[in-house]
Amino acid sequence: MNQYTEEINRRRTFAIISHPDAGKTTLTEKFLLYGGAINLAGSVKGKATARHAVSDWMEIEKERGISVTSSVLQFEYGGYCINILDTPGHQDFSEDTYRTLMAADSAVMVIDASKGVEAQTRKLFKVCVMRKIPIFTFINKMDRDANDTFDLLDDIEKELGIATCPVNWPIGSGKSFKGVYDREKKCVISYSGTEKGTKEGTATEIPVEKEADLRGLIGDEAADKLLEEIELLDGASAEFDLETVRAGELTPVCFGSALTNFGVEIFLKHFLKMATTPLPRRSDKGLIDPAENDFSAFVFKIQANMNKAHRDRIAFMRICSGRFDANMEVRHVQGGKVMRLSQPQQIMADERKILSEAYAGDIIGVFDPGVFSIGDTLCCPKEKFLYEGIPTFAPEHFARVRQMDTMKRKQFVKGIEQIAQEGAIQIFQEFNSGFEEIIVGVVGVLQFDVLKYRLENEYNVEIRLENLPYEHIRWIGNRDEVDIEKLSGTSDMKKVKDMRGNPLLLFVNSWSIGMTLDRNKGLVLTEFGSPS
Ligand code: G4P
Repeated sequence: MNQYTEEINRRRTFAIISHPDAGKTTLTEKFLLYGGAINLAGSVKGKATARHAVSDWMEIEKERGISVTSSVLQFEYGGYCINILDTPGHQDFSEDTYRTLMAADSAVMVIDASKGVEAQTRKLFKVCVMRKIPIFTFINKMDRDANDTFDLLDDIEKELGIATCPVNWPIGSGKSFKGVYDREKKCVISYSGTEKGTKEGTATEIPVEKEADLRGLIGDEAADKLLEEIELLDGASAEFDLETVRAGELTPVCFGSALTNFGVEIFLKHFLKMATTPLPRRSDKGLIDPAENDFSAFVFKIQANMNKAHRDRIAFMRICSGRFDANMEVRHVQGGKVMRLSQPQQIMADERKILSEAYAGDIIGVFDPGVFSIGDTLCCPKEKFLYEGIPTFAPEHFARVRQMDTMKRKQFVKGIEQIAQEGAIQIFQEFNSGFEEIIVGVVGVLQFDVLKYRLENEYNVEIRLENLPYEHIRWIGNRDEVDIEKLSGTSDMKKVKDMRGNPLLLFVNSWSIGMTLDRNKGLVLTEFGSPS
């Protein structure tokens, strides 16, 4: 315990994960509305225009009308200080999206009630599981026709392998959506479709035991169905257990409609009650408690050229312990230097705010003159420890890079290495050759365009990308026990190495991965590369 404990304990830092269009942005807007961070929901990302205000830093964004970066938002609600980390979707899905999850202490998973679990949610969920962070589910769009409620829960359990515990239960959906049954209070909260951008309308609450009133409110048919489902549910669903939730093995589920602002505040309240305070982090000197007096942080994301005129980079860091003060000196452990962090800032919905202090749990962005790398540790000058690094996530798209003007070899290598160091792309070489053949791997295809654009604009190097058919990459988990030269895979498998010389295997499909594992008994392949 120290003087900062109170500030730290009221912090909740979470990421929102979902498949595009499930309603992540709409839900975030509503959260902010409750927190009073913005006046009118809609200004987080008013689709084409307002979104640019958030990160208007790259031509490519303007051309495509999408946000390449992920943003961090902070707001206050009910005495809590909440940090939301957005995980961008659509084409702008990138390795950054995964890395963002390394900075969160819990995750909110938004699922479209008419779709169930979708591809991007599945991918992001895997990272949450790896980190064993609690996951809170919001099943959205109940004002539209939804899948059967039991099927939706079943889908989450089967697809994601996590037990579910409904906090509330929907009564109908679409045109016949009547509201939800709150399992804890044992009452029905009626649906009050409200205007976009306003707070929740006045809902009626009726205890379920007052059956006549219940029937009056939602009608006989819905009431019969609900009473039957409640009975089924109480017998069948997993017992609520906070410890299991916090271990990431059980997800509390709320149903609602972000657009019409139904069930959002209830979800937020439940979530804040159950989510953890900033968690301790592993370092080479053991777990570092957030409440420790001394400041420490790690870099989880580097964003280049936010301001084109200055060609600067912003390093995003998650504060892991103590309090940050803009005037303090910190040690950049990997760089071996003691320094002041320049222009510390917090990225709000549509503005950047220079900040003077922040606490464990918070995310800050600082000006980076090109010294930070992803995973770097910062701590107070008298200390010298390293936080556990950030794993490398598997790219899903690969291309061979051809340089158009071979005279510019030096710029080309410098550029591509720097962009890789920022973590926007991963670069590989043929296993048995040098740097003449470069393969680029990216998590989202947009990164190919970003690479091409940046090499041309910042390094004056033109390239051509030839797409390769690989979709999967695997690290070799037991490298010391395997002779890479002798590995026998399928004919379409390719052996490559990364910049650190680690061997990797590229596969066209998952069947080839299975065949290779079959042919090489004892071989261990992993989807995450160990941290640098
Ligand atoms: P995302 O960030 O997860 O990609 O999703 P986003 O919030 O942008 O929502 C995707 C679309 O789904 C939007 O419609 C949004 O209005 C709608 N939506 C979100 N929540 C709900 C809900 O609870 N009920 C219903 N019926 N729709 C919902 P759009 O037409 O693509 O955009 P817009 O023109 O409404 O902004």
